Amino acid sequence: MELNNVLLEKEGNIAMVTINRPKALNALNSETLKELDLVIANLEEDDSIYAVILTGAGEKAFVAGADITEMKDLNAIQGRKFSILGNKVFRRLENLEKPVIAAISGFALGGGCELSMACDIRIASEKAKFGQPETGLGITPGFGGTQRLARIVGLGKAKELIYTGAIIKADEAYRIGLVNKVVPLEELMNEAKAMANTIANQAPVAVTLSKIAINRGMQVDIDTALSYEAEVFGECFSTHDQKEGMTAFVEKRSEKNFQNK
Ligand code: CAA
Repeated sequence: MELNNVLLEKEGNIAMVTINRPKALNALNSETLKELDLVIANLEEDDSIYAVILTGAGEKAFVAGADITEMKDLNAIQGRKFSILGNKVFRRLENLEKPVIAAISGFALGGGCELSMACDIRIASEKAKFGQPETGLGITPGFGGTQRLARIVGLGKAKELIYTGAIIKADEAYRIGLVNKVVPLEELMNEAKAMANTIANQAPVAVTLSKIAINRGMQVDIDTALSYEAEVFGECFSTHDQKEGMTAFVEKRSEKNFQNK
């Protein structure tokens, strides 16, 4: 897998994905999106990875948006195609059957904010800044921002952020529920790794099934959603990890031998 703009590192059960175009503040061009797609495909196949951290190279930016130089001269057909590419890759990330934590050091603007919203959990440094500045460029958000932002922060706040193009600081992003946690910059990666390790120490199969139930349930009515819950709950009882988790409890053992099956 030849990658120029995305790094993939694995350590134990944790994978770290880094968008690596620091000269362009990690802006997402087509090449980078396609490489991210390859990396997600790799993670889908790797049963040893239980949690993923997604970050941007350097401290200044997580991702400063879709690549404006690439978009500038697009026609309508090419613009639609670019949006479809971004949406396809981000949806694949959102549906990855492993939890993904976005570790956001600096700018998460436009496509960068959208990328973070396709992750399950967002941890930001105190220096991080968020926004959907697309309307100031004469475009709409195109990698999920018109849909995911309202689902995360509510309709009114999402409309305000998109219509005004406002850039908000990490503490405001935390206040409106856009990020889960804000930490000093120097603690960002440790915090993300600590959370990834905590997640990886739960039964991986139960974490995966929880993600599937939550994501699928958000798209449908509550009765259908609860039937998904009953389905995955039932499925847990066919797993080694359910037997191990409950046996460990009964035996008052803190060490658990989860096997992701
Ligand atoms: N696309 C392409 N290049 C970008 C970029 C982007 N989104 N953001 C930054 N860069 C490049 C700059 O052009 C600059 O390159 P050069 O050194 O070759 O000139 C380099 O990264 C450093 O950026 P700045 O000199 O601008 O750094 P700054 O500290 O002065 O400003 C910033 C930082 C406020 C983040 C500013 O770079 C900026 O406003 N970037 C664009 C943010 C934006 O509008 N994002 C939304 C894009 S549209 C989108 O994402 C659509 C969608 O939903 C799919």
